[in-house]
Amino acid sequence: MESKWCVFVAMAMFMLVILVNGDDETSAVKPKVKIVKGKKLCDKGWECKGFSEYCCNQTISDFFQTYQFENLFAKRNTPVAHAVGFWDYHSFITAAAQYQPHGFGTTGGKLMGQKEVAAFLGHVGSKTSCGYGVATGGPLAWGLCYNKEMSPSKLYCDDYYKYDYPCTPGVSYHGRGALPIYWNYNYGKTGEALKVDLLNYPEQIENNATLAFQAAIWRWMTPDKKNQPSAHEAFVGKWKPTKNDTLAKRVPGFGATMNVLYGDQVCGKGDDESMNNIVSHYLYYLDLMGVGREEAGPHEVLSCAEQLPFSQAPTTTSSS
Ligand SMILES: *[C@@H]1O[C@H](CO)[C@@H](O)[C@H](O)[C@H]1NC(C)=O
Ligand SMILES: *[C@@H]1O[C@H](CO)[C@@H](O)[C@H](O)[C@H]1NC(C)=O
Ligand SMILES: *[C@@H]1O[C@H](CO)[C@@H](O)[C@H](O)[C@H]1NC(C)=O
Repeated sequence: MESKWCVFVAMAMFMLVILVNGDDETSAVKPKVKIVKGKKLCDKGWECKGFSEYCCNQTISDFFQTYQFENLFAKRNTPVAHAVGFWDYHSFITAAAQYQPHGFGTTGGKLMGQKEVAAFLGHVGSKTSCGYGVATGGPLAWGLCYNKEMSPSKLYCDDYYKYDYPCTPGVSYHGRGALPIYWNYNYGKTGEALKVDLLNYPEQIENNATLAFQAAIWRWMTPDKKNQPSAHEAFVGKWKPTKNDTLAKRVPGFGATMNVLYGDQVCGKGDDESMNNIVSHYLYYLDLMGVGREEAGPHEVLSCAEQLPFSQAPTTTSSS
């Protein structure tokens, strides 16, 4: 009897030692590791699954936690906000888990991961803000105030895509989500990628915050056109600019993410107000996350004021 008890206590202490040792400085979760062709691949369970090199470093929840999400989006649940109770940290992390094995927030080490999360959320905050000049807490405290366009003036049905992405009668394809989706073809493409029928049921985006974040991160991670980078690749520097890109002043960094996502709507127009608003959110979040805006780099990397849109090739001859 007594000796069994001793064995039990000894085993319990042994396991405690393993648990303490498992908690190393790079991560709270001890990864499963294997080496394939000289490359170290890891699996960290639910947040970074499937043996990827990106799962060997810190994952997003190691450096971005609930209280930080609450700081960034401090006003989203105040009574005047328009999506009270909808957005939360859990839905963001759950959605991000699917893309971390592909490098979202897990490329290049902790600092780059923090910066990418701030950059992605900077876009999200800017697009979902109801902050204005005199809003309490300042105009940047109001990200994730919306989850949909409030008074759409049209159905956003483009008949040009009637064969690939036909509009469902009576359904409206107005803006919804974290990086709002507009138009039947964008709902169609996103739905195809996420294997959700968004063409018939686009309202799923405004009813499910995990799906809304998933759609937004998919957009961030996916090039819109051939021979263009994704916003992710443009941000972390996986994208190598061509000669034309260089001539068009397109350089890797935050500015290029705006170019990928919005092109001529915000880029190449000088000191554009909506461009500045996106940049301001990014810098504000870098500060709140404890990274500091000085990590954002110089103006020509941060801005796309002078960049030609990706869709546009530089003219080699002078236009004068
Ligand atoms: C892991 O982090 C280190 C720096 O901490 C970085 O050099 C390396 O590129 C990262 N691995 C991946 C796959 O991004
Ligand atoms: C919300 O979306 C996620 C991700 O697509 C899905 O796993 C989940 O089942 C959805 N929740 C509901 C209640 O439909
Ligand atoms: C570079 O731009 C020129 C037009 O200015 C175009 O003809 C050429 O195909 C482009 N090259 C690449 C690699 O995109």
